[in-house]
Amino acid sequence: MANPKQEIVYTKLFINNEFVDAKSGKTFPTVNPANCKKLADIAEADKADIDAAVEAATKAFSRNSEWRNLDASARGRLLNKLADLIERDINTLANLESLDNGKPFGDSVFDINCAIDTFRYYAGWADKIHGNTIPADGSSLTLTRKEPVGVVGQIIPWNYPILMLAWKWGPAIAAGCTVVLKPAEQTPLTALHCAALTKEAGFPAGVINVVPGYGPTAGQAIAAHPNIHKVAFTGSVIIGKLVMEAAAKSNLKKVSLELGGKSPLVVLDDCNLDEAVEIAHNAIFANHGQNCCAGSRTFVQEGIYDEFIKRSIELVKKRKLDDPFTADVIQGPQVNDNIFNRILNYIEAGKKEGAKLEFGGKRWGSEGYFIEPTIFSGVTDTMTIAKEEIFGPVQSIFKFKTLDEVIERANNTTYGLASGIITNNLNNALVFAQAVSAGSVWVNCYDAVVPQAPFGGCKQSGSGRELGEDGLEPYLETKTISIKLPAKN
Ligand code: NAI
Ligand code: MG
Repeated sequence: MANPKQEIVYTKLFINNEFVDAKSGKTFPTVNPANCKKLADIAEADKADIDAAVEAATKAFSRNSEWRNLDASARGRLLNKLADLIERDINTLANLESLDNGKPFGDSVFDINCAIDTFRYYAGWADKIHGNTIPADGSSLTLTRKEPVGVVGQIIPWNYPILMLAWKWGPAIAAGCTVVLKPAEQTPLTALHCAALTKEAGFPAGVINVVPGYGPTAGQAIAAHPNIHKVAFTGSVIIGKLVMEAAAKSNLKKVSLELGGKSPLVVLDDCNLDEAVEIAHNAIFANHGQNCCAGSRTFVQEGIYDEFIKRSIELVKKRKLDDPFTADVIQGPQVNDNIFNRILNYIEAGKKEGAKLEFGGKRWGSEGYFIEPTIFSGVTDTMTIAKEEIFGPVQSIFKFKTLDEVIERANNTTYGLASGIITNNLNNALVFAQAVSAGSVWVNCYDAVVPQAPFGGCKQSGSGRELGEDGLEPYLETKTISIKLPAKN
């Protein structure tokens, strides 16, 4: 079970089914955010290592390679085998995830189970990806093939390390691509363990490569690489723009982006209040607020506003903060000093700009990057905390009068990832669901993210979708084949 003394075995780059040092010999430390102590030194990839990984992935994808000759159903079996091995190692992986990221051990187990579900979902797709026969004008047999785009680069963040890896590898492998993945520099450990499991599962050399390193070096080298045909990125808007720019300037590789949000959760007067308070609480505080689809703008209708705040404060007092390996802990530390300081600065901005601090607002404890769960009320749309992604345990509560008003205000953001509404009035729920600019709308629930249904953003929350059948699309090219026939029939 939970073991904070988990041994760390894999610390090198994984290229062509081997663990290797960086060509430069450089390493970087990965840190435990609960106590700021170094966990391990990790081989640090930069451009030369990315080149080596891309070369391996290119060779693995070449015509007549073992990978290209594999039956599609066999790719599905590899994904299922990987899922089985992750399940076998779930305690090890959860220990590594909690040590590296700071999330409670139970949350890590939950995330890993979601990753397993994602692999199994895409395993089923591998031999069900196919084109059409088309009744084209003239006399020909016209058909389409769905082909893998080729070598794909994948750059993932630190908030859900293993789950983001599964969201990236599942569809890429089902489609038949080969992969160069860069985990976030804050959380490389579970990706390296999963790399070892792909070898054990029997993935041919070069199909999966994992290259930990920093964004401006390793990440940039992936985004700008001339022999990568598609890049998938999850992270901040500012880096998403850099990735798109590098893709455009290098080889016009396809780009899919998932860039977070400022998602509105609307609570109408007619709701079941206790249920609404709890949904809104979990929507923002889950994963310490470090969640791309966090319900970070809680809009509450005026008739229940005061009571909603009172009950939200009662609920937030029950959150237990502590080391991720402590029993019953709900909230661990934020991931690192940067993110920690950013969040505290946003809290200061909230106070300065006139929001009412109802609870929290400070660092918790004296070691590690813990922040008290924080509630602001009286937040207005022009405040910094209303507009920018805080990515921390800070609930901002807004008051509104009418549904029309709140729809306008909900949409008044540069983001559009997720949204929610809590009401017993079906008409109001549907009016909101259709009018809101967001990739997901959750009615009387929140964070309803499952492998079967697409997830992704409008506006600056990104482009493309992950999960579901839509999640395969960024990894596929459609080829049209027209065969002339002697006669139309
Ligand atoms: P980030 O966008 O810098 O990092 C995400 C990934 O991008 C990491 O793997 C990083 O190494 C890589 N990266 C950084 N610079 C790069 C570059 N020039 N080229 C290619 N890859 C690069 O995010 P960071 O600094 O860790 O967090 C800052 C804020 O970003 C957070 O407070 C949050 O608002 C947002 N964010 C959103 C996430 C989401 O799930 N959509 C996840 C992580 C952060
Ligand atoms: Mg770490």
